[in-house]
This record gives sequence, structure tokens and C-alpha cells, in this order.
Amino acid sequence: MRAAEISDQLTTVLVTEEQIHAKLEALARQVESDYDGKELLLVGVLKGAVMVMADFARQLKREVTMDWMAVSSYGAGTKSSGVVQIRKDLDTDLTGKHVLIVEDIIDSGLTLSWLLENFASRGAESIEILALLRKPEAAKVEIDCRYVGFNIPTDFVVGYGLDYNERYRNLRDVAVLAPHIYS
Ligand code: IMP
Ligand code: MG
Repeated sequence: MRAAEISDQLTTVLVTEEQIHAKLEALARQVESDYDGKELLLVGVLKGAVMVMADFARQLKREVTMDWMAVSSYGAGTKSSGVVQIRKDLDTDLTGKHVLIVEDIIDSGLTLSWLLENFASRGAESIEILALLRKPEAAKVEIDCRYVGFNIPTDFVVGYGLDYNERYRNLRDVAVLAPHIYS
């Protein structure tokens, strides 16, 4: 669905599907040149990064392998708890691998800082991050993210994989959720 179809549940559309696709295409060109001649493993963080991974990976004009990790730092609410739980681990041995973590959003940064440490301890050759969205004002820990799609305000957003209680992941655009939905 598009934002216009559920406009009563949203306040502002921050990024449209068209803008997302254009950005992912540009990031793909950058990643192709940065990893030229190197094997690349994309690690998607479930479930939010499913759409980013699907669209970004298919923009790449080269081979990559993909794996998935499921972690949760959020309960059912709209605030980051900082408590990270592994729900599904990788199937791939990271030893000697060039890893690009694909994420939907960096909010507090707590999830990614935990993941970075965790992956480093598994012997990856390099670890970088691609995040579609970043909320710079919400950062509790500084994350060195090499590929950022869009910087957005600290409002709670949904769409393009991002959910509120598992809803709105199939919204094609990224939009601010209307407060009457969660309050
Ligand atoms: P962080 O640990 O605070 O950086 O964020 C971890 C996870 O929280 C992200 O990967 C998202 O899945 C989720 N998250 C953060 N901000 C939002 C939001 O505005 N809407 C929906 N999910 C969010
Ligand atoms: Mg996520």
C-alpha cells in the first residue's frame, strides 16, 4: 500500500518509495566500487531490513551472499530498550569475510553497536553498515555507518519494513505514524 491509502493513520510522509529506490541504486554503485574484487556477505537484520535488503541486493551488478540475523531491542512499544536478544543467529561463519550489515534504521544505535562487537569477535575481515534511515538526534552511542540513505527526525516512523506492533511493514513509503494510533 501507499501512504495516501492510509493517510488517516499517518502525519507526514518522510521518504517516498521512489526516493528510496533512487537512493538504494546510488548506494549500490558505491558499494560495488568499494568492494571491487572482494567477496561480500550482506547480513540483513530481521525483520525490518527485509525490504531494504531485497531492493538493495537486486540493484547490485555483482554476486553477493546473504544471511540473516534476528535480534530484538524493542518490546511492543516505540522506545528502544537497549536490551538486545538474539532470536535467530547467522548460518555463516564470518571468519575472513567482508560483512555489510543491512539495516532499516539507526535510532539509539544500541542494536548496531552490540552487533558490531558481536561480529568483530567472530573474526570478520571487515564490517560496515548500510542503513536506509538514521535518526541523528536520537543517538545514544555513536555508530560509524558507512552508507546512510536518509537522515530523519526523531519521530516514530513506519513503512518499508518498519513496523508498529508488526503493522505497516508493507507500506511502500516511510511515514510518521499518527500519535492517535499509539497513544
Ligand atoms: P536502535 O537500537 O535504537 O538503534 O534501533 C533498533 C531497532 O528499533 C531498529 O532496527 C528498528 O527495528 C527499531 N526502530 C527504531 N526506530 C524505529 C521507528 O521509528 N519505527 C519503527 N521501528 C524503529
Ligand atoms: Mg530492525
